[in-house]
Amino acid sequence: MSKKVFIKTFGCQMNEYDSNRIIDVVKKIGFEKTNVIEDSNCFILNTCHIRDKAKEKVYHEIGRLKKRFKEKRKPIVIVAGCVAQAENKEMLNREPYIDLVIGPQSYHKINNTILNFIENKSRNEITDFDSISKFDYLSKIKNKKSKVSSFLTIQEGCDKFCHFCVVPYTRGPEYSRPFYQILEEAEILVKKGAKEIILLGQNVNAYSYFDKNKEFRLSNLIMSLEKISGLDRIRYTTSHPRDMTDDLIECYSKSKKLMPFVHLPIQSGSNKILKLMNRKHRVEDYILVYEKLKKINSNIEFSSDFIVGYPGENDDDFKDTFELIKKIKFVNSYSFIFSPRPGTTAANLKMIDEKVLKQRLKIIQERLFQYQIEKNKSLEGKYIDVLVENEINDQNKLFARNDYMTSVIFDGSKNLIGKVVSVKIKNSNQNSLFGEIDLNNKFIAA
Ligand code: SAM
Ligand code: SF4
Ligand code: F3S
Repeated sequence: MSKKVFIKTFGCQMNEYDSNRIIDVVKKIGFEKTNVIEDSNCFILNTCHIRDKAKEKVYHEIGRLKKRFKEKRKPIVIVAGCVAQAENKEMLNREPYIDLVIGPQSYHKINNTILNFIENKSRNEITDFDSISKFDYLSKIKNKKSKVSSFLTIQEGCDKFCHFCVVPYTRGPEYSRPFYQILEEAEILVKKGAKEIILLGQNVNAYSYFDKNKEFRLSNLIMSLEKISGLDRIRYTTSHPRDMTDDLIECYSKSKKLMPFVHLPIQSGSNKILKLMNRKHRVEDYILVYEKLKKINSNIEFSSDFIVGYPGENDDDFKDTFELIKKIKFVNSYSFIFSPRPGTTAANLKMIDEKVLKQRLKIIQERLFQYQIEKNKSLEGKYIDVLVENEINDQNKLFARNDYMTSVIFDGSKNLIGKVVSVKIKNSNQNSLFGEIDLNNKFIAA
């Protein structure tokens, strides 16, 4: 019988990267990826613990899975990711349908764990923090093809311990992968078709790797990727304001491939709240980074994450956040109501009234969306360069992204996939741009 694996992924890009690598790894023991749940004999849920009722969502997913397999033989059920790390054995105790629980730093052990389960039916939980072995192992497993825009994890974990956040507990201490291992992986990605590489880390700009007493930082990585022929675009996420050092800022003047778009979460525009959150940066520090980057290139745009209603946030603090949004005019952002997470310092703080929370979220989201719409509208009638990522459902329509990661949709043929082409923007809405290919484009003419 052929062995098939289905993987469902929640959470950040690092989970997406991990899911793709898990697929590469389990291929070694004969599992092929399927997109049809019912065809799978191994089901993996790659989970996220960042907000809300993360744990309960996992049990609901498993409940749904049980129903789908009611009449069929049960697949091997694996819970991976950050909820697996946080809940570990508890999951096996609570839900007998779950067979294996594997934390994010243990994916190099997944094949042995699955084989052991097939042979002995022993349910197991593996949640050690062992980033070195994980990446040593994963870097030896080569994947067959790359996406036009490919993720590459360079750093994992976090030592910053913001009081609201589970990441230091679910991903463990900060670990930076060896510099040359990353470059080798980047070369392979490009050889197999990647035109854009997005460097990933929970604190990607805290990347620091020492070799013979020489430090390699994110700036060194960017400038080395710059030299890879065939690679058109470089991005990185998520960065922390405290680690926006001058060497990284200078890359925006030195590199031709680094995109002029900075996702730099600030969380709040009030220094009082940033201090209560243990963010270790001030609003002034953020604005200074913004000004330095704008001076280098006025086309650089910012996006951020905001937590609304952190305990202690009064009307003035909220106003400060609103004023900051007006100053920076973020082109794209994520905003969330504070969600108390078990085990974090902020877990038991007194919550702000729910009505106030919802109202504040609505106010800032309206303003953030307005800037997003305005930015997209400002591109109407202009020619912009976009990287074509794929075709949309055989409709002869192409999906691409502009410099700021906004989706761009236009008519065109498949041979443009993987190319940077010029598109005239005809129309836009909050999330997308709609265009027409420039007929003088060199790829069309060729
Ligand atoms: N390392 C990044 C940084 O420091 O900005 C953020 C990584 S975190 C995975 C992504 C986002 O989730 C955060 O920027 C924050 O806005 C949000 N987040 C984290 N914990 C949260 C919580 N308890 N409640 C609401 N949002 C939260
Ligand atoms: Fe979480 Fe703060 Fe670390 Fe970001 S820097 S991952 S928000 S603890
Ligand atoms: Fe979620 Fe873990 Fe990423 S908690 S946001 S999947 S690091």
